[in-house]
Formats: sequence, C-alpha cells, structure tokens
Amino acid sequence: MEINTLKDLDLKHKTVLYRADLNVPMNNGRIEDKTRIERLVPTIKYLIKHKAKIVVLSHFGRPKGEFEREFSLAPLADALGLALGGIDVKFALDCIGDEVKASIKNMEFGDVLLLENLRFHAGETENSDSFIEQLASLGDVYVNDAFSCSHRAHASIVGIAQKLPSAAGFLLQDEIENLEKVLDNSQSPICAVIGGSKVSTKLELLHSLIGKVRLIIIGGAMANTFLKAQGIGIGKSLYEDGLVGAAAEIMKAAKDSGCEIILPSDVVVASEFKEKTRCEVVPVENVAKDKMILDIGPSTIAQIVLKLNNYKTLIWNGPIGAFECRPFDVGTISLARSVAMLTSQGNLTSVAGGGDIVAVLGIAGITDSFSYISTAGGAFLEWLEGKKLPGVAVLSKKVA
Ligand code: 3PG
Repeated sequence: MEINTLKDLDLKHKTVLYRADLNVPMNNGRIEDKTRIERLVPTIKYLIKHKAKIVVLSHFGRPKGEFEREFSLAPLADALGLALGGIDVKFALDCIGDEVKASIKNMEFGDVLLLENLRFHAGETENSDSFIEQLASLGDVYVNDAFSCSHRAHASIVGIAQKLPSAAGFLLQDEIENLEKVLDNSQSPICAVIGGSKVSTKLELLHSLIGKVRLIIIGGAMANTFLKAQGIGIGKSLYEDGLVGAAAEIMKAAKDSGCEIILPSDVVVASEFKEKTRCEVVPVENVAKDKMILDIGPSTIAQIVLKLNNYKTLIWNGPIGAFECRPFDVGTISLARSVAMLTSQGNLTSVAGGGDIVAVLGIAGITDSFSYISTAGGAFLEWLEGKKLPGVAVLSKKVA
C-alpha cells in the first residue's frame, strides 16, 4: 500500500496539524524514556524548515473525556523544545476552541505549539463528527507521525485525515518501511521472542506468529501458563488459570505447523518479588511450592543463543523476566546483549517493539545495536498479527 508522505503536501505558510505520540513513560513528573519524543525531531525540523506553523496534537494516558491534572501534556512542551535543540514550544490549555484558534493565529511560521491532551474530550476516542470538525478547523493540512497510535480509529488519527490533505511524517514512514522488511521472505528464517506477563493480551499474536515464524521463545510470567499446561509445578508463580487450555492449544497448533516453541528449562526463583531478594537457579521441574519464577535461567539463555545462530531475523516483544526488579532483569538483558552482538556482526536482523522491552534496551545501553526499535506497543502487536491499522490505511494514496 502506497501512502502519502510529506513530499505530497504543500507546507509553506500552512498550519500543520501534527499528530505525535507523546504518551511517554513518566514517573513523578520525570520522563523515563524520551525515545518517542526524540524520534519526532526529523519531521518537526522539516516542517519548521518549510515554514509551516506546527500544531502538535497528542494524547497522554487514558483519561475519560475530561480534564485530569495527572494526564496534562503541559510538562511535555519543554521536553519537546529541548529535543528540538532548545526552541520555545508554547502550550495551549485545550486542544479545541476559540482560545486555541487565537494562539494559532498569533504563531509565526516555523513556530511549534503543543495542544492539551486530546483525550480530555470524549469525541477523540469516539471519533465524533463534531470533535473532528473542531480539530480540522484549526489547520490546513494533517501529518500523522504517531504510528504507535495508528491502531486506534480515533478522531485525531482517522477522522481528521479524512477531512484534510494528509500525509505520513518521517517517523511513521520509517516504522512502516522497517516493519514491512522484517516479515519479508528474504529475511527468513524468522524467530520471535515473546514475553510479558499475560498470555491473554498475546493470544492472537501467538496464533498469527505460528504461521509466520519457525521458532517462538516464550518468557516472562506468560511462560508460566504454558509450563502449567505441560503439567509442570510452578509453585506460587503468577499465571492465568483461565488460559491454561489456550496455552495447550497454541503448543499443539505450533507443533502441527512445524513451529518450535522454547519455554524455560531452568528458572530463577525467589520467595518474594522484591529488589535484591535471595534467589536461586533451579531446573524448571524443581520449582518448590513456596517459590515463584521470576526470570529465565542461564542454561535457557545459552540454549536460545545457540539457536539464534540458525536465524536471520528476530522479532522481540515483551521482557522475559520480571525486569522491573533486580536481579530479575538479568535474563532479558543477557539475551538482549547476545542479540545485539549477532546484529552488530551482521548475522541477524533484530527488531524490537513495546514500551517495556524498549526501556530495557535503553537501560542496557544497547538500543543502537538492534536493527530497528519500534516506538509502538499495541500497534506493533496488531501489525505483527497482520491487522490493517486504520491510521495507516487512511493515509493511502487511494483514500486520501
Ligand atoms: C501506546 O502507548 O501504545 C500508544 O500511545 C497508544 O496508547 P493507548 O493504548 O492508550 O491507545
């Protein structure tokens, strides 16, 4: 599918409604990972160079259609200005209305204005006609750089793109080009590392991957549900009781399709989930009743790394241990380092997506060693599942 790009838009002296994803991880007002902000810079600089007024639209968190201070985008204006080399990014207290219109009118061409959280209006997630009208009336053209939100059929993603001349920004284009390359046959054999805590959020993904990849490595708490399905005792580990049957079905479907599934063969266990707690490595069959599995063990890591030598492409979503708490980040970081090394040697194409895993790669300082890091979480999963993303489809040359 061919989509409109910035080159298709007349930008000079136009007001550009620029949909970004500033939904960044924050802790006590501190931005924990700036990747999503930094990746917007090339498009915004291009728009500045082309003398447009840049009106940035974004959501933050999941407020329910009304103002909630903790979800204000106000702190993001400075961060965006800093990423752009120290420019002054102004902030508007709403994302629609006369005051916003007046602020836009007062902008010089090349200025950047960030609007308040779109989701303070229910019309955003409802994709309501009146909200779309009000947003569209603020600008002349629309640019979507929020690939990570393009699985949402929301007003600022779909509705507005149907109203105004629209195109993809460089980041959205980059995401699509890189992700399309990964499942391209020239890059096979492909393997996937799927972690995280819940099988329930990844059922569709796992079924879809079975038909596309030759090996799936399952880690994180979701592996416990699979171990349970194999009749292995997992002590007091986290697992999803209602999904043991679904896990068994996935394993059967994989076997029938010739897709190998690797589950942990040794695990790191502890009595409680707490920083620097006493832990030990045990074979997966020997997890005591009062212990919980919190990471994969060294033999499992060695087994996976050995296997990776036979693959050309690796797709990674979700951490394979309870990485938030040391030392249970060791499995994820060790495996990530091996993937980074194989990638640097030119032996593997590696693509990772999803907030948690991207944060781990950042902490380990190996982000640059992966072939591609997607800024998307849910959209990355839906894309892997083979779903059409409405925010991308609407930018297609035929539709726009
Ligand atoms: C994300 O963080 O994946 C995107 O910003 C989308 O957020 P949402 O899941 O709240 O729509």
